[in-house]
Amino acid sequence: MVKQRTFVMIKPDGVQRGLVGEVISRFERKGIKIVGMKFMSVSRELAEKHYGVHRGKPFFEPTVKYITSSPVVAMVLEGENVIETVRRMMGKTDPMEAEIGSIRGDYGQFIGRNIIHGSDSVETAEFEINLWFKPEELIEYHRIDEDWLIGD
Ligand code: RTP
Ligand code: MG
Repeated sequence: MVKQRTFVMIKPDGVQRGLVGEVISRFERKGIKIVGMKFMSVSRELAEKHYGVHRGKPFFEPTVKYITSSPVVAMVLEGENVIETVRRMMGKTDPMEAEIGSIRGDYGQFIGRNIIHGSDSVETAEFEINLWFKPEELIEYHRIDEDWLIGD
């Protein structure tokens, strides 16, 4: 097991549909730690950088438009293997293919409105955390349940 950080965003549809609390609760109950969080509008510049790897693909423009259309909740989460854990909790990109029980599987119906983003690798997580957060916006602290999450 390895302690990691990942970048997670509740996308505009998640905010508009009132799913912010529900999504954050799932991570909290799993024992994942919040180390940064902000409610914000996303500029076109930030959206284009965030989805830079998809530039030139047919869904690039619609996705940039989607992500800039309404506020989002941006977070940095920490935990053991948290990058993969969050991806599994999110479910597949297309909510119609995502397992029931996952966030996208339970709440989504369309790939273009899939509620949540989570970094897909260690490299991506580092890039996205630096893109969305300043170092001073990330808080180191002890959470009272941490001692009970993993064994000796
Ligand atoms: P994300 O980056 O948002 O966490 O999603 P992901 O890794 O599961 O999927 P990715 O392939 O990185 O795609 C980024 C986002 O672009 C939109 N998309 N639309 N219409 C389409 O075929 C299509 N494909 C991707 C989705 O919003 C997807 O989350
Ligand atoms: Mg992705």
